[in-house]
Amino acid sequence: MARITIENVTKRYGDVTIIDRLSLAIEHGEFFTLLGPSGCGKTTLLRMIAGFIIPSEGRLLLDDEDITRLPAHKRETGMVFQDYALFPDKTVFDNVAYGLRVRRFSNQQIKEKVGQMLERVGLGHLPTRYPGELSGGQRQRVALARALIIEPRVLLMDEPLSNLDAKLRIQMRDVIRQLQQESKITAIFVTHDQEEALSMSDRIALLRQGKIDQLDTPEGLYARPGTSYAADFIGAANLVKVLSQQTHDHSVLVDIPGGRISVSAPTPGPEACLAARPEHIGVHSDNSQPGRIPATVVFRRYLGFKATYALELADGSTINADIPAAHDAAYAPGSQVFLSFSQACRLVAA
Ligand SMILES: Nc1ncnc2c1ncn2[C@@H]1O[C@H](COP(=O)(O)OP(=O)(O)OP(=O)(O)O)[C@@H](O)[C@H]1O
Ligand SMILES: [Mg+2]
Repeated sequence: MARITIENVTKRYGDVTIIDRLSLAIEHGEFFTLLGPSGCGKTTLLRMIAGFIIPSEGRLLLDDEDITRLPAHKRETGMVFQDYALFPDKTVFDNVAYGLRVRRFSNQQIKEKVGQMLERVGLGHLPTRYPGELSGGQRQRVALARALIIEPRVLLMDEPLSNLDAKLRIQMRDVIRQLQQESKITAIFVTHDQEEALSMSDRIALLRQGKIDQLDTPEGLYARPGTSYAADFIGAANLVKVLSQQTHDHSVLVDIPGGRISVSAPTPGPEACLAARPEHIGVHSDNSQPGRIPATVVFRRYLGFKATYALELADGSTINADIPAAHDAAYAPGSQVFLSFSQACRLVAA
């Protein structure tokens, strides 16, 4: 078992707080992602779990053991870095064998284990190549094999896909997720790519300036963002100004520039804005239904399966809508239209 508990951990450099009293429990076998923009503290937090950085305050537990001050090499974690950090003068086989040699496994055991691991990551045919003779995706597989061969209790990965091209990144998501599921290992994955986080994780901690903004499943984070930060970072929601709001039974009546709509989500307080994802907005030629808001088409971009619109509201602000090709009436720039907001739109903390 390997459960990680982060208790009130703070990391400061001089006067600057990088991680701010952060608490988190990562369950055994979980694929857990630290997500957030550049500089929010993802790498710092991961390196504290790995043991490369010591927290200024707080505790780290691996199961019930306090590992806050345990040196990195005694933590039984495997780490995969963004730049792979392979030994350039060692073959694929020797790169992967490294951790076993340090642990004094016999040559016979090493041959067997490395052979099996290379098969698992799809590199069984390339044991004698050097890193310089491999593609980016192959190098990343070597790095994964090298981390997993020592059967770590926790696999830590810091943006392992960011040096790969778009197509390979998507393939390697499945490779990593599958390896993690097969070995039932607790994995912590760092990325700033929301799609990567949504597609791979059991749970995601969205970080904002060294704190957790929201901790949730991918579905929860997408469907029920709690803040404008989360709504914007995941799925690029439009954040529409809320002029006033009134709660009525199970719905909230919300005044936005140009009119009034009704949303079902609970209201987070007076400082709220409306988070409306582009796919949750409809564009219509008339206001025959209640709750449609007038807007002017700024431009339409045709993308085959859908069209994206930029639309100007009464206060001059612009919002984006994605309309599936089947429902798209191809409104020209300058057209007067009316917008509907689906029940998936939510009030979030501004
Ligand atoms: N050794 C250090 N001394 C001072 N400040 C540091 C140090 N290491 C990191 N920082 C600062 O801490 C903040 C968080 O850095 P960190 O590397 O954890 O961010 P990140 O979320 O991993 O970003 P990225 O997505 O760019 O990798 C940054 O503002 C960075 O400049
Ligand atoms: Mg980083």
